Amino acid sequence: MADRPTHVLFLCLGNICRSPLAEGVFRAEVERRGLGAAYVVDSAGTGAWHAGEPPDRRSVAVARKHGVDISAQRARQLAPEDFERFDWIVAMDGDNLRIARQRAGSGARARVARFTSFVPDASVDDVPDPYYGGPEGFDDVYRLLAAGAGPLLDVLEAEAGRGPSR
Ligand code: 4NP
Repeated sequence: MADRPTHVLFLCLGNICRSPLAEGVFRAEVERRGLGAAYVVDSAGTGAWHAGEPPDRRSVAVARKHGVDISAQRARQLAPEDFERFDWIVAMDGDNLRIARQRAGSGARARVARFTSFVPDASVDDVPDPYYGGPEGFDDVYRLLAAGAGPLLDVLEAEAGRGPSR
């Protein structure tokens, strides 16, 4: 493939609960469609408190339940160069979205979007932060991420000028 791969970064607060799961779910959808060479997928947090840590064990567990292994991922903070390296920065909630837009500056390569805007008939604007809740919160997060991953990939594929891949 001659084209530069589409670079997609998922963004949350800590990069240990939601965005690592989003990264894993989206990458699994990319692989399922045989598009692995066309995408670079990563995740980051607006905060640095958990940098270097693996995902929260509850995110690892819900991913594993659905056949996705995210245990090797490590948290990192959103960096200025991410706005040049990535084509899309997809925020989990309104706070992440606002912070990414503030840090983007003018002329950034990255387009900043809200994850739920890709979820058909979404009843929420935010992928809710599950950190202080119980394990069922992680199931809810997974459901939202799984509902939006395919439609997000459809949008990116259409932009890349490739036909439907489902
Ligand atoms: P995440 O969840 O943003 O989905 O990774 C959180 C993880 C950690 C904290 C908050 C949210 N925290 O306050 O440490």
